[in-house]
Amino acid sequence: MRPIVALICCVSLSFSLNSCAEPTCPTANPWTPQAWGLIQSLALDALPAVSDASNRYLSNPQAVQLGSELFFDQRLSANGQVSCASCHQPEKFFSDGLTTAQAIETGTRNTPSLLGVAWNQWFFWDGRKDSLWSQALSPLEDPKEHNLARTAVVKLVLTDPQYQQKYQALFGASPSTAEMAAWPTDARPSGSIAQIQAWKALSAQQRTSIDTQFANLGKMIAAYVASLKPPLSRFDQYVAALKAGKSDSKLTPLELEGLRLFIDPKQQCLNCHSGPLFTNQSFHSIGTGEMGRDTGRAAILDQIRFDRFNCLGEFSDASPADCTKLQYMQRNRHQLIGAYKTPSLRNVGQTAPYFHHGKQATLADVLDHYINSSEIKAGRADLTAIVLTEAEKQALIAFLNTLNIE
Ligand code: HEC
Ligand code: HEC
Repeated sequence: MRPIVALICCVSLSFSLNSCAEPTCPTANPWTPQAWGLIQSLALDALPAVSDASNRYLSNPQAVQLGSELFFDQRLSANGQVSCASCHQPEKFFSDGLTTAQAIETGTRNTPSLLGVAWNQWFFWDGRKDSLWSQALSPLEDPKEHNLARTAVVKLVLTDPQYQQKYQALFGASPSTAEMAAWPTDARPSGSIAQIQAWKALSAQQRTSIDTQFANLGKMIAAYVASLKPPLSRFDQYVAALKAGKSDSKLTPLELEGLRLFIDPKQQCLNCHSGPLFTNQSFHSIGTGEMGRDTGRAAILDQIRFDRFNCLGEFSDASPADCTKLQYMQRNRHQLIGAYKTPSLRNVGQTAPYFHHGKQATLADVLDHYINSSEIKAGRADLTAIVLTEAEKQALIAFLNTLNIE
């Protein structure tokens, strides 16, 4: 057994009709003070303002506008048909409903929803990126996704008169037409041999200029993605009503029973799915890793450290003191085999299928995994097998669905 982080223990969570004992408790509140404290910590209004010291444009309205245009622009792909929105579709909660993503080629991982993603500490299922802007650069060059070379991306945006004007309003000057004409269209630091050779043939100064503009495009796309906050769910409305001392419950008895189970230490959910986004921002093995195929966080520890576009890199707006999560990140490879980022559970009922591999079709299948997984039972995970009756399973699912967007 591995140590379980932030184990919540010894709190009494009984859900009864006895009114709460604290003088500050609102009337008609059926929860014990401890339970009520936990419930409030899950409400969306507990979310702080979004921040990222490495991107000074994160909350800039002009960057949000330009970023949204880039997010939906299919020209930013090898076949002219792929944009970020091909997989992160607004009408599907910025996900795609597929088992694994599909664009130029079929990928190996499930597409996460982007609502609330900016409050994460790490990005991707294995957290191989430490900021949203650095994350945005990956799909553009990924051969299975947009598959466009770095020089092509930068040239395309900065030779478009409309983009150029908006870009210059934000960043001051951009490279001149003559300067960009000297760049090959198909050069990137990783890719085919010809692409890498073309990249290496550029001078260090040219490469830095291209990387600077590339990073800036990432920062604008990130500003748009950071504006995607999940709206209030029925669960949040329930908490708000109780806080105001109102007794008209927004949740059914079955949903309330699910909430009680969710915060009960016996089910362990809150050990990992905590806070307003229902994630502790940490990496855990829950027995879903696939040896030899996908080992999760363990596989990418060096990649984050040596990433040119990380918080400590030359394109970051942060000072080293702002990059503590990178400096102090957990590096014990052995402990991180098969570990993935705890995903947000906001509107989870609307973003099937589930897990990094998309192999669980329904929330009931996810709970069955927690109950039956042989990896969990063998002690090779960060939790113990969960015991639930059929009725309890239904209640938990009902509760998870109260996090949906209406
Ligand atoms: C081919 C489909 C596809 C395209 C195109 C695509 N994504 Fe994604 N996106 C994914 C998948 C799949 C993942 C998870 C991959 C992983 O964890 O390895 C992901 C992960 C993310 C994440 C991290 C989410 C989290 O919870 O950590 C963000 C943010 C994101 N994408 C934004 C973007 C942006 C911005 C673009 C365009 C520049 C984009 N994506 C293009 C499929 C896609
Ligand atoms: C030890 C930490 C941990 C505990 C305890 C835990 N989870 Fe998870 N949960 C995770 C991780 C990590 C994933 C992602 C695993 C993957 O994708 O391979 C996940 C995935 C999920 C998903 C799928 C989300 C998606 O978008 O794919 C749901 C639903 C879920 N958990 C609900 C629960 C519930 C309900 C409980 C309590 C019965 C619980 N979890 C207990 C860490 C945990």
